[in-house]
Amino acid sequence: MADGEYKPGLEGVPATRSNISFVDGQAGILEYRGIPIEELTAHSTFLETAYLLIFGKLPTQSELDNFDQAVRSHRRVKYRIRDMIKSFPESGHPMDALQTCVAGLGMFYPVREADPDYVFGTVTRLLAKLPTMVAMFHQMRQGNDPIPPDDSLDHAANFLYMLSGKKPDPWLARIFDTCLILHAEHTVNASTFALLVSASTLASPYSSLATAVGTLSGLLHGGANQQVMRLLRQIGSVENVRSFIEEKLAKKERIMGMGHRVYKVKDPRATILQRLAEELFERYGHDKYYEIALEVERVCAELLGPKGIYPNVDFYSGLVYAKLGIPEDLFTPVFAIARVAGWLAHWREQLSDNRLFRPTQVYTGERQQRYIPIEERG
Ligand code: COA
Repeated sequence: MADGEYKPGLEGVPATRSNISFVDGQAGILEYRGIPIEELTAHSTFLETAYLLIFGKLPTQSELDNFDQAVRSHRRVKYRIRDMIKSFPESGHPMDALQTCVAGLGMFYPVREADPDYVFGTVTRLLAKLPTMVAMFHQMRQGNDPIPPDDSLDHAANFLYMLSGKKPDPWLARIFDTCLILHAEHTVNASTFALLVSASTLASPYSSLATAVGTLSGLLHGGANQQVMRLLRQIGSVENVRSFIEEKLAKKERIMGMGHRVYKVKDPRATILQRLAEELFERYGHDKYYEIALEVERVCAELLGPKGIYPNVDFYSGLVYAKLGIPEDLFTPVFAIARVAGWLAHWREQLSDNRLFRPTQVYTGERQQRYIPIEERG
């Protein structure tokens, strides 16, 4: 392969053909199965959107009822998973706990031929169990017993309930459900690509998902949402924003929650999340960090806008999650709880026309070297 053909980070290199989601980074468009994200957040629910992504069409009422019921029925996890979580260090990052749990789950559900029953069972089980395992780790690291799922609550409300032990205001649960829709899928990003590579080897869906969870945990990917809140706290006040940002940029540091490999305008998900944040603060009280975030956006538009760097999905999501009472180190696991829908859609799509991923490289090392005995080495 010629050096000129090498694209660091595979930027712009198609890794697959897919009909799951569409992004136009110049126009700020995101569609799932052709439906704009704005339509879905206005009218759909996370589970319906997950069905759309995974099975390729909006479900009928009976298909949706059946899917919802199946997910509810899979919410509980085996006591051995709970025992495994009990042995995790309380100080461990919840993303590491989640990755371990997802891989561990695979030992209980042997891989089968990907027939429709196996696919339906795997999909509903993973959608259901990720929220339970995240909430379980959170309760157990505080020395509490896990809060069992409540079958009368929908997907979003049940997760918030397992985290806090309180049934949430349905309006808040709806806001959280909308966040899950926004994070459910985003073409071939780093974690989805990692999942495709793993799935292409015919590794189990659990192993493939564990690969994706691990990849999502990085600071440049899903880990950015946690960093945004840290940044806003460090800045501390609206007056400090400009000097803080200028100083960071002078040191060539990145502003978390800003910039995207694909979007060169404001991420459409950030626009929706900002609206949700505004609705939340209007109803549940003002938040000084929101004012700081608005000023960061203004200053960054001036300083970084000319490079096509604008707020991404992570910029406002942390503010919304914090107001919903979700602890900061659970922001990325919450991203995973949503993205599992997209990952599973890509897992199915990969297997429907599989070819093992095996890229090549541009070799830059030496050739035909002599083995030097150890006593001759300087
Ligand atoms: N803050 C400051 N400068 C940034 C920036 C940020 N968040 N993101 C990109 N840039 C700058 C780079 O320094 C570089 O500047 P230069 O050309 O003067 O050297 C230029 O923009 C291009 O950066 P590059 O690293 O090539 O872009 P990328 O496509 O690889 O970046 C991200 C994509 C997401 C990795 C990057 O924007 C980033 O690190 N963002 C912060 C982390 C984040 O929020 N991640 C969540 C993504 S959803």
